[in-house]
Amino acid sequence: MTTSEASEQGVLEAPPPRFSLADAAEIARRVFGIDGDATALESERDQNVRIRVPDGIGFVLKISNAAEDPAVVDMQTEALRHIARTDPSVPVPRMHPSVDGEYHPRVTDDEGNTSLVRLIDFMPGRVYEAPELSLEALQGYGASAARVGRAMRGFFHPAAQQILLWDVRNGALLRPLLAYVEDADVRGVIERVLDRFDARVAPVFEQLRAQVIHGDMTNQNVLLDDRETVTGVIDFGDMSHTALVCDLASVLDSLLADRNDVYDAADAMIRGFGEVTPLEEDEVELLPAILAVRASAAVVIPSWRVIEHPEVADYITGWIQGAIGLLEYLDGDAYETTARRFREAAADVMARPSGSARGSSLPAPIPDDELLERRRRVLGSLSPLTYSTPVHLVRGEGAFMFDAEGRAYLDAYNNVPVVGHCHPRVVEAISRQAARLNTNTRYLHENVVELAERLTASMPEGLDTCVFVNSGSEANDLAWRLAIEWAGGKEEEAGGVCTAYAYHGVSTAIHAFTPEEWVEGESPANVVTVPAPDGYRGQHRREEPGWADAYAAHLDEAFGELRERGRRPAMVLMDTGFTSDGVPAPPPEYLQGIVRRTREAGALFVADEVQAGFGRLGTLWGFEAAGIVPDVVTLGKPMGNGHPVAALVTRREVIERFQREREFFSTFGGNPVACAAAAAVLDEIAAPGFRERAEQIATLLHRRLDEIAARRPAIGEVRGLGAMLAIELVERSAAAAKGVLARARERGLVLLSCGLDGNVIRLLPPLSATDDELQRGLAILEEALGDASPE
Ligand SMILES: Cc1ncc(COP(=O)(O)O)c(C=O)c1O
Repeated sequence: MTTSEASEQGVLEAPPPRFSLADAAEIARRVFGIDGDATALESERDQNVRIRVPDGIGFVLKISNAAEDPAVVDMQTEALRHIARTDPSVPVPRMHPSVDGEYHPRVTDDEGNTSLVRLIDFMPGRVYEAPELSLEALQGYGASAARVGRAMRGFFHPAAQQILLWDVRNGALLRPLLAYVEDADVRGVIERVLDRFDARVAPVFEQLRAQVIHGDMTNQNVLLDDRETVTGVIDFGDMSHTALVCDLASVLDSLLADRNDVYDAADAMIRGFGEVTPLEEDEVELLPAILAVRASAAVVIPSWRVIEHPEVADYITGWIQGAIGLLEYLDGDAYETTARRFREAAADVMARPSGSARGSSLPAPIPDDELLERRRRVLGSLSPLTYSTPVHLVRGEGAFMFDAEGRAYLDAYNNVPVVGHCHPRVVEAISRQAARLNTNTRYLHENVVELAERLTASMPEGLDTCVFVNSGSEANDLAWRLAIEWAGGKEEEAGGVCTAYAYHGVSTAIHAFTPEEWVEGESPANVVTVPAPDGYRGQHRREEPGWADAYAAHLDEAFGELRERGRRPAMVLMDTGFTSDGVPAPPPEYLQGIVRRTREAGALFVADEVQAGFGRLGTLWGFEAAGIVPDVVTLGKPMGNGHPVAALVTRREVIERFQREREFFSTFGGNPVACAAAAAVLDEIAAPGFRERAEQIATLLHRRLDEIAARRPAIGEVRGLGAMLAIELVERSAAAAKGVLARARERGLVLLSCGLDGNVIRLLPPLSATDDELQRGLAILEEALGDASPE
């Protein structure tokens, strides 16, 4: 046992000093020059005496436990003086020096024991029991705890290295004291808490943001007035240099016990704390495990002390029951629920990772002209730029991107930044994993398994197997290879179908399924196209009954054509948002008719969710919105919110058929960093309110676009699937649409045009966009539409 531990045990075991009240009043007068009446205050280990004075709120004379380390008393003194300098508005007691200018002189009792004595302000307010406090009060409480920590950020004292049993860092020291806990079940719970601490917390504890903290922000040490505003934070006796988040844990430990609304209360305190001191992801991740250790200490330490000192039983055993109740939320399956709720509570008050801070540490951008010239020299014409005067982007945040001159562009271009640019949760997940390990999937790693579990769990039964790749193209390419094997394994005998102006990717095989990129007269032998279900201008119109199925029936013709070419229908590949085809937004019957016909022909239906997936259409997957179950699903783009990660999900039998003859390996597919990014995106989409927000965005955009269309005759149709909106210009002119895009860009909105005639303008803002941001974008669009003539 170390000296500090021994000293702490000494303090906990040694009885508090026992000066009479008359002696205390005399000390106040003689040592500090304060004349007043003395009354006793409660204290666990010191002797605290209130000194009332005729004017003013008075003082507290704190006579330290004889076993107290003078260095620790000095630390408390210096910490309070530090706070008084750095943030005088933080309600902590002021220190008053003795008449000799000392902050903690010595006094001796009748038996010759000497103690250090301090005079501090008496703090107004009172102690509240946890269930008494409103959620607003708890939020303010959390904020006060954070303010104390913030005021102490630059403080240090050698005694802060003291080893305290209450400090979560020393969780392992609780184990030898476990024998004092009578109830075997409770002992079992605490053992599990300590096991989790050893496995998950201890290895990374020293990486957490650390400083000297208060260490004991319990309701006994925080005073509030009648309006439940914090008026005083007292008792700095448990300070140590440790993880900052331990202060939040002590707040939660103290104030969740005995409450019925544990999650709402935690939410309030976490938010309150995070609003003052934004939380880091590691802190949020470990908070429940740290809290569990703290709650365990609240059971173990009193259980031990009660046996040694039965006289203090009443004072401390009260804590135990509350702490045991809290431990139930942190044991077994309940732990994950609590962890999730904490993550949700912290989502809005997370620190931005330093790497994504507003570019302060980034080199200054190169001037556009120079960069353009250098780019031309090395990138060539296969890497074209959007807009004739290119946009030079340097930063993204939420729905916006910013150029080198700081101009903001609302991004409604595509579904990639689905949860908003540089979303802190995603950036943090990527940077954390990148700092730890990145490698291929042929080693065991949690990230890839957990992501696959989450993806398959989100899909209909049977879609139970994932393969990870790096891009939508690769996912579709693999889908085609699976389809060939499914159809007998002979590539020259297999055929596929896609829509007339689809885009599915860049590989040679998938170029054949990408008529958008075909040159005049190009017609791959293995692919036949069907018209996109365009009910506005196509062969079958919305007003005709059964028009959607009439479109689906074209698939039979396409299969017939393939057979004539000596090919067996192997794959029907469709983007469930039909984005390149101009977002024709067919009713569900269209894809239902397609899937039915595909099955009848023995082919695989591949839902390309690269554009529509991850919440865009109001459902997590676009195929859900159409009420179909695909054979294969391909994912990409929004999957990592911009980080390259893509996947294919299918039935086990489809993979097994392929694997009889073939192997597949992707070096970067499913790497731990990519999977961390995708998991963070899924977390964000699963967060409460996200789906509802997608619906609100869809409704707002649709309504406002209808209004704009009523004023702008250039608009022929407004349509959409969920929050994937499109307007088609009356004029079949790609140049007219490009003109709108250019004018919108000038005004700070980036968009994309698409469709067979290039006259459809797509709007896919991040699903994190606020109403104000959307309104701003719509106003720009309306202006940019002008008369929608070519630029
Ligand atoms: C529907 C669809 N599928 C697949 C792809 C190809 O994805 P990637 O560019 O990641 O290869 C795209 C890209 O735009 C797409 O829109």
